[in-house]
Amino acid sequence: EKGGFDWFMLKEIAEQPRAIADTLLGRTDGQGKLVLDEVRLTDQDLRDVDKIFVVACGTAYHAGLIAKYAIEHWTRIPVEVEVASEFRYRDPVLDRSTLVVVISQSGETMDTLMALRHAKDQKARVLAICNANGSTIPRESDAVLYTHAGPEVAVASTKGFLTQLVACYLVGLFLAQIRGIKYEDEVAAVVAELHRLPEAVAQVLEQMEPVRELGRSMAEADRMLFLGRHVSFPVALEGALKLKELAYIHAEGFAAGELKHGPIAVVDEGTPVVVVVPPRARDLLHGKVVSNIQEVRARGARTIVIAEEGDEDVVPYADHVIRVPRTPTLLAPVVTTVPLQVLACEIADSRGFDVDQPRNLAKSVTVE
Ligand code: M6R
Repeated sequence: EKGGFDWFMLKEIAEQPRAIADTLLGRTDGQGKLVLDEVRLTDQDLRDVDKIFVVACGTAYHAGLIAKYAIEHWTRIPVEVEVASEFRYRDPVLDRSTLVVVISQSGETMDTLMALRHAKDQKARVLAICNANGSTIPRESDAVLYTHAGPEVAVASTKGFLTQLVACYLVGLFLAQIRGIKYEDEVAAVVAELHRLPEAVAQVLEQMEPVRELGRSMAEADRMLFLGRHVSFPVALEGALKLKELAYIHAEGFAAGELKHGPIAVVDEGTPVVVVVPPRARDLLHGKVVSNIQEVRARGARTIVIAEEGDEDVVPYADHVIRVPRTPTLLAPVVTTVPLQVLACEIADSRGFDVDQPRNLAKSVTVE
């Protein structure tokens, strides 16, 4: 049932191009328009939204952090992202014109469910992004957009995450389309780019052998840092979470701009630092992140750099470069996350751990 792979996780990583394609299937009309009839909120409800909360746990929370960049850019509606266990207990400001997007692969996460109930009590509209058909969270929500990842068996979420990202993009673009705001042309262009993602992820997967080798050489690492900016910051958080949960190596993700405000103090000879570099099209950020690679390298870090094809600026400061195809900035997490999944899986395997069933963790957390 692992389809020839050593672990379900590897099988699920390999299924990502198909999972993304399935999540897009039937949701656009061929002219760059979104057709989300299944989201049973009226156009008026969606036009009235003046604030969005994205609420989730763990990896799904990281998808929400990325969604914020995209949804705010396309819709100009303010978005806050919060872990469900905090949201529920701090009396957030909610009313009829608030849209609460809850994200959950399993649809059974208790913290997320409690947050959704709280949001409904306060009269907010709740839209669930969920993978498990008919599970509790979509049943209790006002509307649902299913990710069509198929069953995810490994405790570490992979295809669940990438399809959550795609669903978040669809929600953002759909809101922009309904509200007819200034990014109309961009909506059609982004829809076309979304359809290129399965191929882009397949390309990344074809180049994973050196990443697996790199993972095997890192079995002895005792800590690791992950750095990124803009949408790559949550990708860094996700890379660190994967490594913690699978390889039991202490890892932290940081916004690269925060480096000088503390984290750089822990870098010393041989500390592995993974840097997710923004596309070169984002001139300013790109240059700043390249300087960050230089800075950590000067303190002895072993730098592992994820950069788009053709980005030669990173080469002088990278001990290892992992290439990903060019994608528009907001969609880049879909491709840059993949090598981090493979890396964590390989490091855990070479340390002799059960990749699919890491210690102390359950696939769905049904207690608060
Ligand atoms: O089923 P959910 O998406 O609600 O699960 C949320 C988290 O528990 C989950 O993403 C967890 O962080 C994973 N083990 C991450 O790989």
